[in-house]
Amino acid sequence: MPGLTLKNVVKRYATVQVVHGVEFEIEDGEFCVFVGPSGCGKSTLLRMIAGLEEISDGVIAIGDTVVNNIDPAERGVAMVFQTYALYPHMTVEQNMGFGLRMAGMPKDQIRSRVEDAARILQLEKLLHRTPKALSGGQRQRVAIGRAIVRNPDVFLFDEPLSNLDAELRVQMRVEIAKLHQDLGNTMIYVTHDQVEAMTLADKIVVLRDGNVEQHGSPLELYSNPNNQFVAGFIGSPKMNFFAARSKGPSNGGLKVSLPSFDDAEVVVPLNDKPGDGQDLILGIRPEHIAIGDSSPISLGVTADVTEQLGGSSLVYANSRGGETVVIEQRGYSGVKHGDGFHFTFDPEQARLFDAEGQRIR
Ligand SMILES: Nc1ncnc2c1ncn2[C@@H]1O[C@H](COP(=O)(O)OP(=O)(O)OP(=O)(O)O)[C@@H](O)[C@H]1O
Ligand SMILES: [Mg+2]
Repeated sequence: MPGLTLKNVVKRYATVQVVHGVEFEIEDGEFCVFVGPSGCGKSTLLRMIAGLEEISDGVIAIGDTVVNNIDPAERGVAMVFQTYALYPHMTVEQNMGFGLRMAGMPKDQIRSRVEDAARILQLEKLLHRTPKALSGGQRQRVAIGRAIVRNPDVFLFDEPLSNLDAELRVQMRVEIAKLHQDLGNTMIYVTHDQVEAMTLADKIVVLRDGNVEQHGSPLELYSNPNNQFVAGFIGSPKMNFFAARSKGPSNGGLKVSLPSFDDAEVVVPLNDKPGDGQDLILGIRPEHIAIGDSSPISLGVTADVTEQLGGSSLVYANSRGGETVVIEQRGYSGVKHGDGFHFTFDPEQARLFDAEGQRIR
């Protein structure tokens, strides 16, 4: 199973450049997720890998083969789209075998491939139904089956679950993870759902405006984001960001003050030492904050809304200086609208960014 290499990949539509020199590698058998806001170039990149869009500049290689000028059908890839567009008058079996029939594959071979795919996707009992007699999840499985029967080296998924309701999405997400475990193929999966990205990926590529902001394992991106954009994009609920000001080195870290919290001071462990008075941004995740007044950090806020999620609660609160903070608590939270309280966090968990949003380490 070959991996993929992208070198300086550029896409221009007429005079507008939408992908700007993207570079990364995907290992053999890796599950790679492209994630990023709408319009950042996820589908364009996937379609260039599939051969459905021309590459304006740069190189895409699948395994050792540069595929820039290779026909989509010869690349060993199969793509599953958001809209799965099954043929309504054909049965599940005929839908899955259609591409192979067009390619002139002998009938018994087609049957055996379709049966294999149906077994993997648990569609065996539905092979003689037409799409209108299937649920949304079953239809999406047929669309995935159409890709499996082609026996590709690389699977490409473009937001395959975004037409499904929330519960089915979760179920199909688990099925896709299982599929990857069973088949072991290289898979590239596009989504703007960061939970899908975190749970499915071996590697996440975070895109913004046609550039790669960072790539790495989900946990690398979660705990070691290169910039504020990645820090804010990965993780749910989002990382909190507070305005901060550098106060110089202290105890092997950097002391910062938080203007919106009555200039409370926090010492963040750090190697770089930005100069005094520099404007910074301090990031801390909701799950790393605890309610309580334990020194040395103790920041005062007033509760706005509390969401009880059953297993956990989210408390939304505001500081006097107008900063909003989201706090995740285990179990039930007794905090109510209007309650004043203090919160604290382990400064090891704080991340600092400069005024441009670049990480300071
Ligand atoms: N045929 C085209 N001509 C000109 N611009 C295009 C064309 N197709 C896409 N674009 C532009 O390229 C950029 C990237 O589009 P793309 O479809 O790859 O985004 P995406 O990340 O998949 O977004 P979404 O999450 O909404 O699907 C967008 O700004 C889009 O407007
Ligand atoms: Mg898209």
